Amino acid sequence: MKQVTTLGQFIIEKQNDFPYAKGELSRLLRDIGIAAKIVNREVNKAGLVDILGDQGATNVQGENQKKLDVYANEQFIAALSSGGECCIVASEENDDMVRIDSEVSKNAKYIVAIDPLDGSSNIDCNVAVGTIFSIYRRITKNGLPTLEDVLQKGTNQVAAGYIIYGSSTMLVYTTGKGVNGFTLDPSIGEFCLSHPNLKIPEDGTIYSINEGNYVHFPDGVKQYIKYCQVEDKATLRPYTSRYIGSMVADIHRSIIKGGVFIYPTTSSAPNGKLRLMYECNPMAFIIEQAGGKASDGFNRILDLEVDSLHQRSAIFIGSEHMVLKAEEFMKAHSAGQANGVVASKKSVA
Ligand code: AHG
Ligand code: MN
Ligand code: MN
Repeated sequence: MKQVTTLGQFIIEKQNDFPYAKGELSRLLRDIGIAAKIVNREVNKAGLVDILGDQGATNVQGENQKKLDVYANEQFIAALSSGGECCIVASEENDDMVRIDSEVSKNAKYIVAIDPLDGSSNIDCNVAVGTIFSIYRRITKNGLPTLEDVLQKGTNQVAAGYIIYGSSTMLVYTTGKGVNGFTLDPSIGEFCLSHPNLKIPEDGTIYSINEGNYVHFPDGVKQYIKYCQVEDKATLRPYTSRYIGSMVADIHRSIIKGGVFIYPTTSSAPNGKLRLMYECNPMAFIIEQAGGKASDGFNRILDLEVDSLHQRSAIFIGSEHMVLKAEEFMKAHSAGQANGVVASKKSVA
């Protein structure tokens, strides 16, 4: 019988890749894995129990919060608090960073940024949702950790991952030495290594974007979409369009099959919609580690300066050749509309 490697075993084995590791990061990853299983249990029975529907509150971005967002947020924060390895959690669901003040945690080394439930509008219709996390080392040496510890560039990430609660539940993560995927075997309650050393195809034939917003896109994106739709046998065009509306699920598909996922700036969201700290940066780290590329249309996502917890960014992410081609169109048709620059009238006409 083939030997299975569980997430716990794998994390311990990989600790040897980091000769000075004291096991803190391993414990942190293990805690995230445990919280993921608890959230998975709730997501799976979302249709059965009275947990569906709006919580009534709105989160910091002014969006309706679903009950499962709140539940997932509580579970991850609880797991990270009791683990003792994390001193601050920055979550989509909390306006401010959450300091973990317990005796064991307040001097802990790590900061976690998290989107506890990604794609929450998909819960009610049984479509895949996810969790995204990003881990940084604390910068300040003494006293209480500060916002400076949190607002670090994507290149400083020591680990990042996502969980996809889909037709099966998977946890995919990187510590900067490749990407590995684990599938939850519900019969034994363990994540088992199923996708070792994941690599994204260099090229693909699937583009993924909310085309309903076409009229609001920068010209470069409009032209790239046209390019995807033109017939050309040599490049297997026209490409296929797929858009789930859960970033985790759209990007997971891109890793497995190849493709590009784009959430550009729009005239109504001039800085983009997706959040840099807990959506774009962790996904960019994972994709780069899988051999792909992630940019805001002009600049590498991981190099972007971070000024605030809930900062947004445009994102073009996926197979290297597809992202490069989309960037060519941005350069040719939307130069001057980089992140943070409001799209000109011309570009949204
Ligand atoms: P969240 O549920 O965490 O707010 O994230 C939703 C995000 C992302 O997962 C998805 O790709 C995107 O929003 C969909 O946005 P549109 O509905 O505007 O296409
Ligand atoms: Mn999200
Ligand atoms: Mn979310």
